[in-house]
Amino acid sequence: MNISIFGLGYVGAVSLACLARDGHSMIGVDIDEAKLALIRSGKTPVVEEGMVELVARVVASGRVSVTSDTTRAVRESETSFICVGTPSAPNGSQDQNAIVNLTRELGRALRGKNRAHLFVYRSTLVPGTVEDVLRPILEKESGKKEGQDFHVCFQPEFLREGTSIRDYDKPPYTIVGTNSEAATTALRMLFGHLGDIHVTSIRSAEMLKYCCNNFHALKITFANETARLCEALGVDPFEVMDLVCKDKQLNISSAYLRPGFAFGGSCLPKDLRATNYMSKMRDVELPLHTSLLPSNRVHLDHAIAKVLATGKRRVGMLGLSFKSGTDDLRESPLVLLAEHLIGKGLSLLVYDPEVHLSQLLGANRRFIEQHVPHIGSLLRAGLEEVIRESDVIVVGLSDRRVFDFLGQHLREDQFVLDLVSMPRARTLNARVAGLCW
Ligand SMILES: NC(=O)c1ccc[n+]([C@@H]2O[C@H](COP(=O)([O-])OP(=O)(O)OC[C@H]3O[C@@H](n4cnc5c(N)ncnc54)[C@H](O)[C@@H]3O)[C@@H](O)[C@H]2O)c1
Repeated sequence: MNISIFGLGYVGAVSLACLARDGHSMIGVDIDEAKLALIRSGKTPVVEEGMVELVARVVASGRVSVTSDTTRAVRESETSFICVGTPSAPNGSQDQNAIVNLTRELGRALRGKNRAHLFVYRSTLVPGTVEDVLRPILEKESGKKEGQDFHVCFQPEFLREGTSIRDYDKPPYTIVGTNSEAATTALRMLFGHLGDIHVTSIRSAEMLKYCCNNFHALKITFANETARLCEALGVDPFEVMDLVCKDKQLNISSAYLRPGFAFGGSCLPKDLRATNYMSKMRDVELPLHTSLLPSNRVHLDHAIAKVLATGKRRVGMLGLSFKSGTDDLRESPLVLLAEHLIGKGLSLLVYDPEVHLSQLLGANRRFIEQHVPHIGSLLRAGLEEVIRESDVIVVGLSDRRVFDFLGQHLREDQFVLDLVSMPRARTLNARVAGLCW
């Protein structure tokens, strides 16, 4: 394939070299003449393991040329990868000057081209940039229509500096954000041999890149905070974190990574409080750990606000315990939600198949009596009555049968707030207002 690459920094230069190695004809474009001169003479513009030999080899093969002429590069290629920098502006926002200016040039270059072209954005971009900013620029400047005369997609880059060629050859996966079959076909051809390809929406692909980087930052910070606390407690942090990583069931797994409601129960909140107290007593600052309970509280407040925003006064709650399948009400966020809604003067009915007041004992009983003392008058044994008598139904149960029953008995005037799963809520028929996250 004839491919042009715009921006010959870490991402662009490595992609240029690897795609040329794989047999493609490459045109590299940059505004930095020094980088162009280096590549022209067979030298790498970035310091990366394996790049010295690879650039020399692919340039000698004759499959690589470089230019600062955008128009020529677009005309002489079928696909363009856009890898220019998207650094931080002083206020923390993304500085999109380079990508916007380049996209204008790409659009103008496309105007004079009479064959289809694929633009693959690889720079990290805030969600919405491709569809709301870049695609309109391409259409305006070229006078052409996306999906018809040219195609656009977003393919986040996952390589890490230092191991970039190895990461190019063994990515975690290839993500293609697109609405275009032509884009998917082209990227399958280029990257299909490297492993799994997942096709998603452009916005999700843009967001995914941030999400992955933020998650990596979170993991590093978690390990480092744990180490600081371990050090203060005289515990070996490596021993602890090695064992943390050996649990592939709950720790290094997809467990706890599905969006849903706030956490609660008899363990997580109390153990976090104790951790924060341990660190406070030893003057160890753990900003990440101390932010978790406040963040969890924000999530609960978000649900309260969503119920109140409906303007409806009769609320039915399906679920009360801190998770489905147990009658443990201690620190259940659903109990706190119920307490707040009652406090706001809303009327409430509750259905939870596991919660039987007569069987609640000890701390469990004390917790509910402290937060919702008249819970006995709100609990109903039948699901149907709760649904019938409510204008807003808050679903905190993960039981599929309960959810199916709800779907069959909803009226057009009712709202549903599904705290368990947004994809599940989408399966409800269209009469239901989408009030979920
Ligand atoms: N560096 C990484 O490890 C990495 C990994 C994943 C994603 N990313 C993302 O990829 C993008 C590129 O990162 P990078 O580290 O390669 O950047 P970089 O700063 O090393 O390189 C960007 C290049 O773009 C060139 N450029 C600027 N305007 C141009 C224009 N109009 N036409 C042609 N070239 C132009 C610059 O001269 C520079 O050579 C960023 O959005 C970054 O967030 C980087």
